[in-house]
Amino acid sequence: MNPLRPVILAAAGSGRMKNAVTRVPLTAAVVRRFVAGETRGELAPVARDLLASGRMISVDFLGEYTTEQSMANAAVAEYMSLIDDLAALEAPHTLVPAVEVSVKLSALGQSLGADGPAIATENLHKLCVKAAESRVWVTVDAEDHTTTDQTLDTVRQLHPEFPWLAVAVQTYQRSAEDRCRRLTAAGTRIRLCKGAYQEPDTVAYQRRPDVDASYLRCLNVLMRGEGYPMIASHDPSMIAATLVEAAGSRRCPGDFEFQMLYGIRDPEQRRLTEEGHALRVYLPYGTQWYGYLMRRLAERPANLAFFLRALAERG
Ligand code: FDA
Repeated sequence: MNPLRPVILAAAGSGRMKNAVTRVPLTAAVVRRFVAGETRGELAPVARDLLASGRMISVDFLGEYTTEQSMANAAVAEYMSLIDDLAALEAPHTLVPAVEVSVKLSALGQSLGADGPAIATENLHKLCVKAAESRVWVTVDAEDHTTTDQTLDTVRQLHPEFPWLAVAVQTYQRSAEDRCRRLTAAGTRIRLCKGAYQEPDTVAYQRRPDVDASYLRCLNVLMRGEGYPMIASHDPSMIAATLVEAAGSRRCPGDFEFQMLYGIRDPEQRRLTEEGHALRVYLPYGTQWYGYLMRRLAERPANLAFFLRALAERG
C-alpha cells in the first residue's frame, strides 16, 4: 500500500485540513481531473461526451456523513432533479441501462442517530421509485465498515421491490467473499471494488497482495453466481482475470460490466469499450468534493505529487 495512505485518509476526516484545502483556488486543475463540476449544468456536457463515446455512466452527487435532516432532504431533492436530467440525455442503445446514479446512504441520513438507518432506507426508496420510472439504475456505495451492516440491511429490504438495486462490496474487508456469496445467491447486482477507506486490521486486510487475492476470490464467486457483477477496478491484473472468468463462465457483455472512475485510465476505458465490453464510468459532481479527492490522492502517490505541484504553482 502507499505509505502515505493512512496520513492522507486521516486528513480526509480533518475539518481543519478540509478548510485549508478547499479555500485554495486550485479547483480547476486538480479537482476537475476527478470531478465533472460543481453543478448539474457543469455535469451535463461531461455526461453527454462519455455517453457519446459508448461508455455508460454512474453519477454521484458528492456528499457524505449528513448531520442534519435538512441536508438529507436537500440531497434527496438534488437526486430527484438529477434523475430527471439524466433521463433526458440521449443515451446509447446498450443492453442494460446506460445511466445510473450512485448514492451514499450517509448522505441520505443514515448517520442521523437511532432513526438514521430508517430515514436513509425511506429516502433511498423514494429515489428508487423515481429511477424505476426513468430507466435509471441505482447503486449504493460502500462507505467505512461501521456502516456496512446497515447498508446491506437497507439494500436487502428494498431488493424485492427493485431487483436492479445494486450495492458495492469492498474486497479489503475480510468478510467480502462470504458477503459476495450471499448477495449473488439473491441475484443482486454487485459492484466489486478494493475499498478506499482507512480500516482496522480486525476488519480489513492491510496488505495489497491480500486485498488482491480477496478480489480474485470474490470475482470468481460473482462471475459464477446468479447476480450481475460490476468489476470496478483500474488494475490490469483484475481486468485480465475478469476476461478469463467471463470466458470460463460464458458471460457476455450484458451479463457483467467493467467500471472505472472518471479521470482514471481514460485510454483503457476507451479500449475496453471499443473491444465491445460494457464499461461504466463513475462520475461525481457537486461542491462537497473534499473527501472524494482525498481518497483519490491516497490511492496513488503520483496524484499527491500532482496536487502539491498545483498548490505550489498557484501559491
Ligand atoms: P489499484 O489501487 O491497485 O490501482 C491499479 C491501477 O489503477 C494503478 O496502478 C493506477 O494505474 C490506476 N489507479 C488506481 N487508482 C488511481 C487513482 N486514484 N489515480 C490514478 N490512477 C489510479 N471504494 C469504496 O470504498 N466504496 C465504493 O463504493 C467505491 N466505488 C467505486 C466505484 C468505481 C466505479 C470504482 C472504479 C472504484 C470505486 N471505489 C470505491 C474505489 C476503489 O475501492 C479503489 O479505491 C480504487 O478503485 C483503486 O483501486 P483499483 O482496483 O483501481 O486498484
